[in-house]
Amino acid sequence: MEGTFILVYYNSMNYSLIHFKEIDSTNNYLKSSYRLLDNFTFASADYQSHGKGRNNRIWNSESGENLLFSFLIKDENLLKESPIISLITAVEIAKIVETYKIKGVSIKWPNDVLIGDKKVCGILAEGELPNYLVVGIGLNVNQKEFSKDLRRPATSLKNVIKKEIDINQLKEKLFDQLVSNLKNLNKDDSLEYLRNHNYLLNKRVRVVVNNQPFIGEVIGVDENFCLQIVSSDMLLHIDSGEIEIL
Ligand code: BTN
Repeated sequence: MEGTFILVYYNSMNYSLIHFKEIDSTNNYLKSSYRLLDNFTFASADYQSHGKGRNNRIWNSESGENLLFSFLIKDENLLKESPIISLITAVEIAKIVETYKIKGVSIKWPNDVLIGDKKVCGILAEGELPNYLVVGIGLNVNQKEFSKDLRRPATSLKNVIKKEIDINQLKEKLFDQLVSNLKNLNKDDSLEYLRNHNYLLNKRVRVVVNNQPFIGEVIGVDENFCLQIVSSDMLLHIDSGEIEIL
């Protein structure tokens, strides 16, 4: 293991937390150690030397400026919901972002949280079903400058509210909320929130399904959290994949 510092504790919410000053990737850590760890183990880090984004992209984040963490799911019943766990996580993060009285928060299906047109959070779920799922979250909190080369411009909570945020307080609040809402899943509430904060709604998009590209307009999210796209005369229900906005 590459971490330079580890602290493990169990809190009243009954989850465990391991914090690293530095690690290659909190997703990698939980993936390689899942056999030894409990359901709802959180791993967080000040810095990741090999932070990973979706589609083999790199996730860069300045040390100590952002909230970088992953959590492990091993619970059999929750694993049955694995196709929607990223979206539920995005909903919980968007809700926390809104508590800072930030306007224009939305979810870009399947797993980005945006403020306006800028990305404030990315989520990468990886796993080996039916054994485990690791959900990794990078939430931009206090970082001010972001690379100009990103696929989508990024922002942070601090850039929007113009105030430094206490990352530990935010972390505790978010972890408590995530555990509590995942243990007592209310899919209807999450779906309603998602439908009311759907960045892609009415946008013209391109999506590839089974190697076949489709161009169409997003008309909503169905009851299974799939993205609904009208393409020519067809109504597509997309359950995963990259959506390109045209
Ligand atoms: C994306 O938008 O491409 C997903 C980004 C996910 C980044 C987080 S940071 C914590 C966790 N560890 C990683 O290596 N990646 C995720």
